[in-house]
Amino acid sequence: MRTFNNLVLAVSWATASLGALYTEPSQLPHLTYDYVIVGAGTAGNVIASRLSENSLYSILVLEAGISAEDDLATIVPLLIPTLPPNSPHDWNYTITPQSGLDGRAFPYRRGRLLGGSSTINFMIHQYGSSEDFDKIAEITNDVGWKWDSLKQHIEKHEKIVPPADGHNTSSQYVPAIHSTNGIMPVSLAGRSQSIDARVIATTKEMPHDFPFNKDMGGGDVLGLGWIQSSIGGGKRSSSATSYLAAAINRPNVHVLINAQVTKLLHTGSLSAVPSFRAVQFARKPGAPQTVVKARKEIILSAGSIGTPQILLLSGIGPKAELQALNIPVVVDNPSVGQNLSDHIWVPNNYKVRDEDSLDDFFRDPLRFSSAMKEWHARKTGIFAGGITNNLGFFRLPSNASIFSTTRDPASGLNSAHWEMVVANFYLNYKPGVVEPVNGSYMTIQSALISSTSRGAVKLISADPFAHPLINPNYLTTPFDIFTMREAVKATKRFVSADAWRDYIESPVGGVVGTEDADIDAYVRDQALSMLHATGTASISPKGASWGVVEPDLKVKGVDGVRIVDASILPFPPSAHTQGPVYLIAERASQLIVGENLQAELDFHFRTDWVVELQAFLSSSAARMYRFCQDIPIMSN
Ligand SMILES: Cc1cc2nc3c(=O)[nH]c(=O)nc-3n(C[C@H](O)[C@H](O)[C@H](O)COP(=O)(O)OP(=O)(O)OC[C@H]3O[C@@H](n4cnc5c(N)ncnc54)[C@H](O)[C@@H]3O)c2cc1C
Ligand SMILES: *[C@@H]1O[C@H](CO)[C@@H](O)[C@H](O)[C@H]1NC(C)=O
Ligand SMILES: *[C@@H]1O[C@H](CO)[C@@H](O)[C@H](O)[C@H]1NC(C)=O
Ligand SMILES: *[C@@H]1O[C@H](CO)[C@@H](O)[C@H](O)[C@H]1NC(C)=O
Ligand SMILES: *[C@@H]1O[C@H](CO)[C@@H](O)[C@H](O)[C@H]1NC(C)=O
Ligand SMILES: *[C@@H]1O[C@H](CO)[C@@H](O)[C@H](O)[C@H]1NC(C)=O
Repeated sequence: MRTFNNLVLAVSWATASLGALYTEPSQLPHLTYDYVIVGAGTAGNVIASRLSENSLYSILVLEAGISAEDDLATIVPLLIPTLPPNSPHDWNYTITPQSGLDGRAFPYRRGRLLGGSSTINFMIHQYGSSEDFDKIAEITNDVGWKWDSLKQHIEKHEKIVPPADGHNTSSQYVPAIHSTNGIMPVSLAGRSQSIDARVIATTKEMPHDFPFNKDMGGGDVLGLGWIQSSIGGGKRSSSATSYLAAAINRPNVHVLINAQVTKLLHTGSLSAVPSFRAVQFARKPGAPQTVVKARKEIILSAGSIGTPQILLLSGIGPKAELQALNIPVVVDNPSVGQNLSDHIWVPNNYKVRDEDSLDDFFRDPLRFSSAMKEWHARKTGIFAGGITNNLGFFRLPSNASIFSTTRDPASGLNSAHWEMVVANFYLNYKPGVVEPVNGSYMTIQSALISSTSRGAVKLISADPFAHPLINPNYLTTPFDIFTMREAVKATKRFVSADAWRDYIESPVGGVVGTEDADIDAYVRDQALSMLHATGTASISPKGASWGVVEPDLKVKGVDGVRIVDASILPFPPSAHTQGPVYLIAERASQLIVGENLQAELDFHFRTDWVVELQAFLSSSAARMYRFCQDIPIMSN
């Protein structure tokens, strides 16, 4: 971990101030809202923003974490490698010791602040393969999840803006498959680097192994090309700087930070389908609990760790697990918290001949602070770009020996098994690793994409403030270790291209030995998470005996709760996961609004006084009525 940040993190960068942002439960003007959203993260802010476009709905967003809108570390793109785990932005989770990684355990970062993980992630922005979404449509039997249907949401989500250095991007992406009308600024690489031309030259030299892909953002991911990032004007775009910023000054949105939801409460009558239209939250362990109610729905957007944890605390989950902790079982669902999947990667570091690598930059306080000055003055320069300019997605060859024993887990023939990310510096964030004190480096991260290992999130305690057990079970299938081995081998072919001949001096700290067993040992010793957890509240076919949510994202066997976040993804997609989460959340908003309009229409048709009703609904009296209407809570 880089430690250079101390001098800058204290500096405050004033941004537009937020409106109805409350910090204490006592400040909340109401205790009943139409919609209560749990988690102001990547997905939660999309829902808050889209639902609040209709001024008739009242919306409360509860966020456990803080507001860090002035924190430069979350704004300046290249400060991201300096953001440590175990910070005030983070849940400070640690995964369980991993048998597939030589028994190693390490921090598992999750954002605990407005914007959630979108405020602390590496800003790589893409959506996955079209086949990923077609497969979800097939699993759920809902054509609305098909890529051809889902991709319409790119229009509202994405706002392609010029890169920080204003370079000509016409050879680096395909404008026709993007949007300039959406809410979140996205751009191509913000600074050029000397290795970029060599990467692209390698795609020309080895087009069979490493074909060039002009744009991975249109559902067609295979090949190597230019990064698109959630960066605009040299600053991070998070769900907080885009969606929440648009919503928070609307009078119908209230956001409360420092509010950790501890439980959903069983409301209404004890009917066949239990409804949960209230949530309980507290600031910290031992602090008083507050209850707020949702007239229409609760949207759980607490992420792949937080969402299953809240369900389990609420008595929705595997019966035996709940009973062991004396949590009353309301819905026995064996899938809650199960099927945790993730992407992992391993660094291949090379010593290089290059004055332009970022290593010296990170070591040199003078260059560092003058670049910081440039960023402050113009939002350009080294700090305006992220950690990589080029990445690519690839498949194992179709005759790979693993396919004689393992069915291809990718979503289709145009979906990836592994990925390569090229960084212009020594990148290895394994705890305890110390960066070299001199020299220039390049890093190729080899990543496992279509992983087949599955783990779980479980409660250790009924105490909502205790961390759950997070066990991703990395590299516990023959397919996963095979694919990582092939991905590492591929980087050796990559750097053997003529394009690198006068550039690379030697591999460093890499595989010792030439046998497969040597590569496997290296991978198990070095691999780390890409922090792309999915699957813990999986979508599934309507009425299926497995899975946590129905195709419309409503929690199975429960009334009044929907889940919208990365946890619903049934398998790891061919992408870094924020893009898929944004598209899912955009569609979910449409589903929620559509259902609600339908319900109101039905009501209008049943009664005969449409005009009067509309007038009533839009009056402030109606809004007060909605806020005050009571919802009885069952004792559970
Ligand atoms: C360090 C890091 C780097 C990453 N890099 C990339 C990248 O470059 N590109 C990419 O596409 N993806 C990346 N990812 C992954 C991506 O950011 C996540 O998949 C995505 O943001 C998840 O969105 P989400 O809405 O599911 O959860 P989150 O964005 O994590 O939101 C969950 C929110 O719920 C809140 N919450 C949780 N529990 C409670 C509770 N009990 N009460 C109240 N609030 C609660 C959390 O504090 C958080 O704000 C990275 C992730 C991390 C951590
Ligand atoms: C995580 O650790 C940091 C630093 O110790 C601390 O400030 C923060 O409160 C911790 N977060 C949680 C959720 O415990
Ligand atoms: C960008 O480059 C393309 C291809 O070289 C060229 O056709 C186009 O005119 C350039 N655009 C600008 C704004 O210079
Ligand atoms: C895990 O997911 C698979 C589908 O990928 C499903 O068949 C299985 O039932 C799930 N397991 C649990 C415990 O939900
Ligand atoms: C796969 O096919 C290629 C040629 O198409 C061949 O070079 C390679 O050896 C084959 N690999 C295996 C494992 O059969
Ligand atoms: C670089 O650092 C290594 C390890 O500290 C040292 O052995 C070597 O002499 C240094 N080289 C230069 C050029 O400073």
